[in-house]
Amino acid sequence: MNFDSHLHAFDPLRRAQLQQRMEEHWPQLDACLQRLYGSQIEYSAFIDTLMQAILHASLERSKELLQLDTRRMQQAEWFCSEQMLGYCAYVDRFAGNLQGVEQRIPHLQDLGVSYLHLLPFLKARKGENDGGFAVASFEEIQAELGDLNDLNNLTRSLRAAGISLCSDLVLNHVADDHPWALAAKEEDPYYQAFFHTFADRALPDQFEQTVGQIFPQAAPGNFTFDASLQKWVWTTFYPFQWDLNYANPQVFLQMVKALLKLANWGIEVFRLDSTAFLWKRLGTNCMNQAEAHWILQALRSIVQIAAPAVVLKAEAIVATADLPAYLGDQEKQIKECQIAYHSSLMAAAWMALAEQQTDVLQCVIERTPRLPRQATWLTYVRCHDDIGWNVLRAEVAAVSESASIAQQRLQAVSSFYSEQGEGFADGLRFQASDPSAVHGTVGMAASLCGVRGRAMASNQMAVRRMLLMYALAMSFGGMPLLYMGDELAQTNDSSYLDDIDRSHDGRWLQRPMFDEVAMNQVHHADQASLAYVVYSGLQRLLEKRRQLPAFSAQVPSRLIRLPQSSVLAFVRGELEGGTNSQYMPVLCLFNFSELEVVLDQAQLREAMKMSLGLGADLVLQKGCSSCGVDGDVQFNAGSDDRIVLAAYAALWIS
Ligand code: GLC
Repeated sequence: MNFDSHLHAFDPLRRAQLQQRMEEHWPQLDACLQRLYGSQIEYSAFIDTLMQAILHASLERSKELLQLDTRRMQQAEWFCSEQMLGYCAYVDRFAGNLQGVEQRIPHLQDLGVSYLHLLPFLKARKGENDGGFAVASFEEIQAELGDLNDLNNLTRSLRAAGISLCSDLVLNHVADDHPWALAAKEEDPYYQAFFHTFADRALPDQFEQTVGQIFPQAAPGNFTFDASLQKWVWTTFYPFQWDLNYANPQVFLQMVKALLKLANWGIEVFRLDSTAFLWKRLGTNCMNQAEAHWILQALRSIVQIAAPAVVLKAEAIVATADLPAYLGDQEKQIKECQIAYHSSLMAAAWMALAEQQTDVLQCVIERTPRLPRQATWLTYVRCHDDIGWNVLRAEVAAVSESASIAQQRLQAVSSFYSEQGEGFADGLRFQASDPSAVHGTVGMAASLCGVRGRAMASNQMAVRRMLLMYALAMSFGGMPLLYMGDELAQTNDSSYLDDIDRSHDGRWLQRPMFDEVAMNQVHHADQASLAYVVYSGLQRLLEKRRQLPAFSAQVPSRLIRLPQSSVLAFVRGELEGGTNSQYMPVLCLFNFSELEVVLDQAQLREAMKMSLGLGADLVLQKGCSSCGVDGDVQFNAGSDDRIVLAAYAALWIS
């Protein structure tokens, strides 16, 4: 590829920089594009247009963003730091509109947030729109939320506050009223080729044999008959979300343009939505296909060239074994997304809480490979979607005595969180059309942990469970994410049932309005209030986390297998490094049981040697700093050498 002919518009310094980045990232980009589109007749014209788009975007980057590019390139692992904290919210639910979000920056700063994921704020389909995930324009902001000016102000203020803005980029589909879909309906062949359309049911029926269902109750099947097209259209999610056909290079090109434009609006992180579904192949479940990875790898190379400050985050809610590929492969020098949701870890932690047993969670951790460089997990407790238990199938099977017991365990955990009355949890089944299937669970973290009402006295245990779950997300090794409302222990919101566009989708149960009353209790340090107790508990853990370099995502977690099955234990940091080590070790203990567990230090050290090797030793002395659900407690290794873990205690001993 001769870049020179494309570079004449740049001054000599930028030309040299771009040339260098091109040379570095072109080999991966070229390899991916060749495999995806190399056989197309107009391949070289496509490459030419793509290069023009990349360079055009680079030329349009503001001075401020160019400076950010330089800074980020010097610190390519900035998002792996133990200082990072994510926060996720819907613009309207959190603050009314984008201007309102700007007003809430002090709240985010108070928590130490450095990364803000605002759920979709681009122009969405009219009427029902899956919380904005049915995008009608990648170039306009949803009018009720603000305009480009508001977004510019927001990104600037966030950046000044040390907060990076993350936006969804819905890659897999567009709304059925997006101009591309409208043109397709008008029988424009160019745009019809943007979608997967079928004249009859022959192929759809074949695909349906092996493709799963996301919303079996509200949107059964993967194909929708469109009356104006008189054809079946591939719609993995809702019928109004039309899957894009990435076998068409024009689709790839348009999405690149959309991404780079948004990057130049100041978006620093893109949450690439539904990445697992980008490529369809007959006879498969049409998830995690090699081509989907090549698309993501190509996008990564493109942003590294045009807007190197930008970070890509994969939303791939897939089995643990399929997850690491979304972060690339260090040995093979493949770079894909820098961040990926660790949904197995999240689901397994909820399972441990229900079962008071950590075998599945330990299995997930064991099967989580070491992170490649410049990559991290997103570690979270709740988000706007359901908790899908199916991602755990392999791990539950691996630790259960038989396939039927494994199935029973999954079913039991799904019921535990969705059938009020049996345990502490107050959640609902998601898309429960078949009572024998393993359904996802919806509900706010506080409700799933057992919070009922606002009285602190009756919620002591629920609060401990919640802090335990967050302590794990903060210390496992990734970027922890706070979901809006969790910091105030907000509970389920059933008001969606009165809204005709939402009542069929139980995920709205966990999408409440930001609770101003609870926030005031925090501001006024109302120590008796539930909100204050949870808020200050989280804040304390977060503050401690920031003081522990061993919690950087690049430091691996090493599992310790203890005889007490309700306790999860791992070490972060360098046990063998001596006192000069950059990463002084931290022992992390989590008691998922409602009962106190007593660990014997000798036994713990033995378990550590067994799990980590003979060199591994950690002498816990009286006075070791420790922090956890119960606050900063002086570590109590007294004469009897015991570590007492209260019910649902989490303890970080450094
Ligand atoms: C992602 C989103 C989810 C949405 C789906 C379809 O999974 O997180 O909320 O329904 O994509 O866009």
